[in-house]
Amino acid sequence: MADSQDNKTWFRSARFGMFVHWGLYSIPGRGEWVMNRENIPVGEYEKLAARFKPQRCDIRSWARLAREAGMKYMVFTTKHHDGFCLWDSRLTDYTSVKTAAGRDFVAEYVAACRAEGLKAGLYFSLMDWHHPDGDGHGITDPDVRWRFVEYVHGQVRELCTRYGEISILWYDVPWPYDAENWRSAELNSMVRELQPGILINNRSRTDEDFGTPEQHVKAEDPDRDWEACITLNENWGYHRGDQNWKSPRQVIMTLADCAKGGGNLLLNVGPDGDGVIPPESQRILREVGAWLGRNGEAIYATDRADVGWGSWGKFTVKGKTLYLLIGNWVGSEFVLGRLSCKPVAARFVATGKPIEFETLPHGVRLRGLPEAPPDFPVTAIAVEMDRVPKHSSGPSCLNPVHSWFDPEVGIV
Ligand code: GLC
Repeated sequence: MADSQDNKTWFRSARFGMFVHWGLYSIPGRGEWVMNRENIPVGEYEKLAARFKPQRCDIRSWARLAREAGMKYMVFTTKHHDGFCLWDSRLTDYTSVKTAAGRDFVAEYVAACRAEGLKAGLYFSLMDWHHPDGDGHGITDPDVRWRFVEYVHGQVRELCTRYGEISILWYDVPWPYDAENWRSAELNSMVRELQPGILINNRSRTDEDFGTPEQHVKAEDPDRDWEACITLNENWGYHRGDQNWKSPRQVIMTLADCAKGGGNLLLNVGPDGDGVIPPESQRILREVGAWLGRNGEAIYATDRADVGWGSWGKFTVKGKTLYLLIGNWVGSEFVLGRLSCKPVAARFVATGKPIEFETLPHGVRLRGLPEAPPDFPVTAIAVEMDRVPKHSSGPSCLNPVHSWFDPEVGIV
């Protein structure tokens, strides 16, 4: 098994992962909070388990799509807030193995990740609307609380012992308990003992390995790993009416924001009740993957960088190379100002074709570019510099600003 340092190494260069929200809620197709939002009683909601027999569910095809999208890992909802377990838990009958599907989807998922060369991460909701003591409402009796917390520890132990090497444990929603009630320190030291190479997120109310900004990009402190989780439309779980898809260009630019801040993007898909990833999600991810196939150099294993942005797009940095990810093409000449380093060479990332350039005081002019953007939806250009690129705050700058690195880079 990998040790924790190795695991951090892969995580730091991966940049792009697939989040999968899938469970009973995928059948009604109104998002993963449907049980709570529509006040569906446990006894009613449970009936969905009898209808959960996904005929077209081929988890290998999800993993293949992730690989084709240029993603390096996946995180899968083993149990969401509705409490339905997608693995063969011995601690409850409310599982996909003991109900209509008769399948251990976590086993299928881990096997699919391995087959496609992806790291396997497991999402696990601490809050549980199904377990009688699970949502904490009015529970003050420590014995009752402990009955549930013990159940949670037992389930996490199952997930960490049954499926070989697990690369990420992705907790969600610790509400309503604190770390002491969850016994998070004990829980996580058990997890690390069982899975020495695992990375644990920050949602069991202890910091652990990485932060999880949700639906926005925000860099953590420079010495801390992080991963932004973002939906491809407006919902995590399948929503039959939600067609508000992000474009491939938005995904690429969001990836660039993450890369520049030294973090990863965990981009979500919500397969339908039959286990099929919506065709539109597939189309967008394949387009992003094709782009990464040509331009991945500008995204993977990039460094956290002290550079800003341009009206034309985004920067990323690796060593002494400054990458320009241009979404708004400006024609045959392109000027970059406010640099504290000097250009040595320039080329298109996708083709390697050299670009003529002229050194300016605090900048560079690229010349002889085509009038129309040479790549779609974003053109990536690499400019090799004489040292690590930074924006200059020197006297030649117009509109000097105090900090060039605004960690809150926002969603594009
Ligand atoms: C939120 C939601 C949940 C979703 C998660 C993803 O905490 O409760 O539905 O799984 O975010 O980050």
